[in-house]
Amino acid sequence: MTREKPDRRTFLKTSSATAGTAAFAPALLAPAVHTGHQEMLKLGLVGCGGRGEGAVLNALSADANVKLVAIGDTFRDRALIRQANFLKNEELASRATVADDQVFDGFESFKKVVDASDVVILATPPHFRPEHLAYAVEQNKHCFVEKPIAVDAPGVRAVQKSCDIAKEKGISIVSGLCWRYDLGIQETMRKILEEKAIGEIVSIESSYNTGTLWHRGDQEDWSRMEYQIRNWLYFNWLSGDHIVEQAIHSLDKTAWLMGDVPPVKAMALGGRQQRTDSKWGDIFDHFTVFYEYASGQRVYFTCRQQADTDQHTDELVLGTKGQAQVIKHRIKTNDGEKWRYRGPKPSMYVNEHVEFFKSIRSGQPINNGHYMCNSTMLAIMGRMAAYTGKTLTWEECITSTQRLGPKEYTWGDVPTSPVAIPGVTKVL
Ligand SMILES: NC(=O)c1ccc[n+]([C@@H]2O[C@H](COP(=O)([O-])OP(=O)(O)OC[C@H]3O[C@@H](n4cnc5c(N)ncnc54)[C@H](O)[C@@H]3O)[C@@H](O)[C@H]2O)c1
Repeated sequence: MTREKPDRRTFLKTSSATAGTAAFAPALLAPAVHTGHQEMLKLGLVGCGGRGEGAVLNALSADANVKLVAIGDTFRDRALIRQANFLKNEELASRATVADDQVFDGFESFKKVVDASDVVILATPPHFRPEHLAYAVEQNKHCFVEKPIAVDAPGVRAVQKSCDIAKEKGISIVSGLCWRYDLGIQETMRKILEEKAIGEIVSIESSYNTGTLWHRGDQEDWSRMEYQIRNWLYFNWLSGDHIVEQAIHSLDKTAWLMGDVPPVKAMALGGRQQRTDSKWGDIFDHFTVFYEYASGQRVYFTCRQQADTDQHTDELVLGTKGQAQVIKHRIKTNDGEKWRYRGPKPSMYVNEHVEFFKSIRSGQPINNGHYMCNSTMLAIMGRMAAYTGKTLTWEECITSTQRLGPKEYTWGDVPTSPVAIPGVTKVL
């Protein structure tokens, strides 16, 4: 993982060319996999969890000439669950039958999956994404990259570098920030950004307020490394905290609305009120972040994971001539005019794979690198500002050299970091 300190302009310059919903780049150097044909493409899955299973089924539904050939996970039991689950799918099992000797486990399993495949789905906890993506791009493999793409600034910079290399090589990089592939959201965004249906955007109120998620318990024979990876959501070094791991979906929509340009600074609050037990690792259960842009526009953001609280997820966009609710696909002008998206609503999860395989076969690679890095960094910035209680600039955050997690991955002890205390914790 790189520890170089880029300046902000370099980060933006190298990445801005790839902004947009599905930015296409010329194939300067054809990747090793077949393009422009209907040949069978070999698919590999790295990270055999719920999302990995879903993404494989989405990929097989999206393109009839794709076959799952290899899967890998740190834990054999997790990989075997998926191997068995795929066989239960009546419609897709014939293309999702993985031979026993193509089921890999351990920290290095990703290399074997990548080596066996033309196309890979990267769906581990985000801590590992930079290393996995770098290897896949080095091996010229097209990548479906689940969100978020990193948990710290060095990870974001490393992923941006891999995406820039992928662009030069003509490799497709499609992001799991799935709302970018939702037709209703796309049309709502088009009306706001292109038709200026609500005039100029003044501010955005964005929220991802939800309940609690799974916990996979503890076992006596688990090392602390195993315990943390099995319960990765609750460890900042693995998940990036829930603002990065989950609420990135909302921050990504605000970033899209702001033209995928980073903010100048962020001020944030956060803490944990329900997650007082050590089983919840070191993450918070609520955040509020105010992002300020060079244009003067503001994003007011909240996210919460607390049981028995009100759930709400949407972006309310306030403009000079009206307002929009993005997930509800509704626009209302100050003159009383109303619009609502009533078009087709295919699954965004399948649609992202339809576009992915279309791009591979047509030789018109998609590169979602810029926005997946910018949105991940936006979430990391919010966490950094909340953990410290300090107003932080984008420049400070994107150039941070703080890398989270152990230097080496072994099945031994790994300490739990203390829960951040604003005013005390330092992240820069
Ligand atoms: N786009 C979406 O809507 C969406 C929805 C859910 C999850 N996700 C994302 O997908 C990713 C996976 O989430 P999930 O819900 O499937 O979690 P999960 O815990 O169910 O699955 C992750 C799997 O990765 C394995 N793993 C951990 N470290 C590994 C490593 N170094 N190498 C190989 N395997 C490793 C784990 O053992 C686990 O089986 C996360 O980044 C998450 O944020 C995206």
